[in-house]
Amino acid sequence: MLPQEFILQVIQANPIESVAGSYVQLSRTGSKLKCKCPFHPDSTPSCVFYPENNSFYCFGCHVGGSVITFVQNIESLSFMEAVKMLAERAGLTVPADDRSMEEARREENFRRRLLALNRSAARFYYEQLTGADKRGLLYLRERALQPEIIRKYGLGYAGEQWDSLRSAMLAQGYTDEELIAANLCTRSAKNGGVYDRFRSRVIFPIFDLKGSVIAFGGRTIEPGGEPKYLNSSDTPVFRKGANLFSMNLAKKSQSKRLILAEGYMDVIAMYQGGFENVVASLGTALTPDQCRLIRNQRFEEVIVSYDSDAAGRNAAVKAINLLRAEGLQVRILRVENAKDPDEYLKKFGPAFFRKLIENAEDAVSFLLDRCKDGIDISEIGGRNIALQKAVKLLAGIENRLERSSYISKIAKEYEISQTELQEAVDEALGKNRRKIRRQEQQAVIQSPLIRDTLNPDANGRRRESKAEKMILCYLFRNPEALPEIRASLSEEDFVTDLNRRIYQTFLESADRGLPPEQAIYSADFTAAESGYIAGIPAEYDQIDLNGQSVSDSIRLLKQHRDREQPAESLSDAEFSAQFSRLIQNKRSGTA
Ligand code: UTP
Ligand code: MN
Repeated sequence: MLPQEFILQVIQANPIESVAGSYVQLSRTGSKLKCKCPFHPDSTPSCVFYPENNSFYCFGCHVGGSVITFVQNIESLSFMEAVKMLAERAGLTVPADDRSMEEARREENFRRRLLALNRSAARFYYEQLTGADKRGLLYLRERALQPEIIRKYGLGYAGEQWDSLRSAMLAQGYTDEELIAANLCTRSAKNGGVYDRFRSRVIFPIFDLKGSVIAFGGRTIEPGGEPKYLNSSDTPVFRKGANLFSMNLAKKSQSKRLILAEGYMDVIAMYQGGFENVVASLGTALTPDQCRLIRNQRFEEVIVSYDSDAAGRNAAVKAINLLRAEGLQVRILRVENAKDPDEYLKKFGPAFFRKLIENAEDAVSFLLDRCKDGIDISEIGGRNIALQKAVKLLAGIENRLERSSYISKIAKEYEISQTELQEAVDEALGKNRRKIRRQEQQAVIQSPLIRDTLNPDANGRRRESKAEKMILCYLFRNPEALPEIRASLSEEDFVTDLNRRIYQTFLESADRGLPPEQAIYSADFTAAESGYIAGIPAEYDQIDLNGQSVSDSIRLLKQHRDREQPAESLSDAEFSAQFSRLIQNKRSGTA
C-alpha cells in the first residue's frame, strides 16, 4: 500500500484536464470541461470534468472518479499501475512502504525465477532439435524453414517422453511449483505426479518486447495429433490477450505498416520471405489490448492476412472492427489459391506475396463484400437482403465524403439509383442516431439500479441513503464543517454500508489533515466505488445544500436507527444514549 499522502500528491501533480486532454477532445463550459464519454457510446458530451477537485463523472454511464480512475479505465490498468504511471508523468518517485515492498519484492523475485525458467526451457527445447531424436528438426525442415530462421525464432522440440524437460529443469534447481506456475508441467489429478505439458511437439517460444521468453506454443508433429497447437495459458509472466507473437521482431521494422496473421507458421514464413513487420495474435481472437499494443508501437496501418476460409473471413471482420476502433487504418489481404499466407509463400514465393500486399483491399470494400456472403444476388430477394446489410454498414461510416464514395460504388454494383441508395442510408443514419440517443437515455434511466448494486443496502432505504449522500456532498463542499457534524453524527448512524465507509474515510482523512476528496482516490475503494463517490457531488451539482438540509438528514438517520434497533440488543450505555435522543427528538417535535 502506498501512503495516502503520496497518492494525494500524485493527484495534485496531475490536473485531470491535462491528463484527460491527452486522450479526449475537451470543451469548456464555465468552470467545467466536457467531452463525449470515452467509456460508452455517447453522442452528446455527457462526461464532465471538475478541475476544482480533480474528478470526473459521466452522467450517461456513471463511470467517474479521480484522475487515477480515469487513467485506470482508459488504459485498463490496476490502481497501483495507474498511480505509478501518473507519478512518472509528474516526475515523482514512488515511495516504498515496508510491507508492500516486501511483498512486491517477493512477487518480482518469483516472476524473475519464472522468466529464467522459461529461458532455460527454451534453450533446452532448442537443443533437443539436434539431439538423438531428429523428428522435430525434420518436421521444421519439411515446412521449409531455413536454419537461420529456426535460430532467430528460437524454435525447439519437445520429445515424446513425459518428463525430459522436468528432469532437466529440476537438475538446474527449479522446483515443481515453478514448473507448474510457468505452465510447462502439469500435476496429475489422479496420482499427483508432475509431468511435461509439451510432448511430441515443435516449440515456438513467445517473447515480450524486451526479449524475455514469456510463454510457449507447441505444434504436434504427429499427423492428426490433438490439439494441433498447445499454448501456455496465462501465468504470472504472461497474459495471452495482451501480447502478439513476433512483436519483439516486428517492432524493429521501420515500416508504419504491420501485417497481422493468424498462425505462428504464417508469421515465420513471411519473416523468412523478407517481411519483418509481421505478428500473430496468440491462439485467440484479436483483443482490444493487442490493438493498443500495435498502436503503441507506432504502427498506423494493419494488413489483416488471415486464412482464406470462411472462419478466417469471419475473424477478419471482427479484427477490422477492433482495429478501426483503435484508430488504425486497415486493409485486407486476399490470399488466393492457397489456404493461408504460409502456403501461398511456399507455392508462389515472396515476390508474388509482395504484390498481394501492395494490392490489399481496403477494409470497407471487404466488409461490403461480406454482405453478399451466402446470398444469391442474381435474385431480387437475395439482392434486397444484401442491400439492406450494405445500407446498415454504409450508415456506420462516419466520414461523409468516404460514405458517399462507397454509396456510388454500391449503387453501380447493384444497379440502382444513387439518390435512392443515398436516401436509404440517410434514413438508416437517422435511425442509428435515434437508437443511440435511446440507449443513452435508457442507461440514465437505469442508473439508480446500477448504483444500488454498489450499495445494496440502499434498496428499500432510498430516503436514508439519499440523506447520507446529502451529508457527504455537503462535506465535500464544506470540509470545515466536519468537526461540527462529527459531534452529532457517528459512523454507526449510517444506514448503508458504502456511505458509511465513505464517511469513515472522511473522518480518517480529517484526522490526518487531508481533504475529503481523497476518498475518491483511496485504494480502499474499487474503481466502480470511486465512480460512485465522484458522482455524489456531481449529483447534487445544481442543488443548494445548507446547514438545515444537513441537520434534517442527520435527524432522519437517527430516527431510522432508533426504529430498527430493538432495545434488548443495546448495551446500557447505548440504551441511555438512545433514550436521551428520543427525549430530545420529542422536545424538538420530530418524534
Ligand atoms: P491454423 O490451424 O490455421 O494454424 O491455426 P496454421 O498455422 O495454419 O497451422 P499449420 O500450418 O497446420 O501448422 C491458426 C492459429 O490458431 C492457433 C495457433 O496459434 C495457430 O497458429 N491454434 C490453432 C491453436 O491455438 N490451437 C489449435 O489447436 C489450432
Ligand atoms: Mn498453415
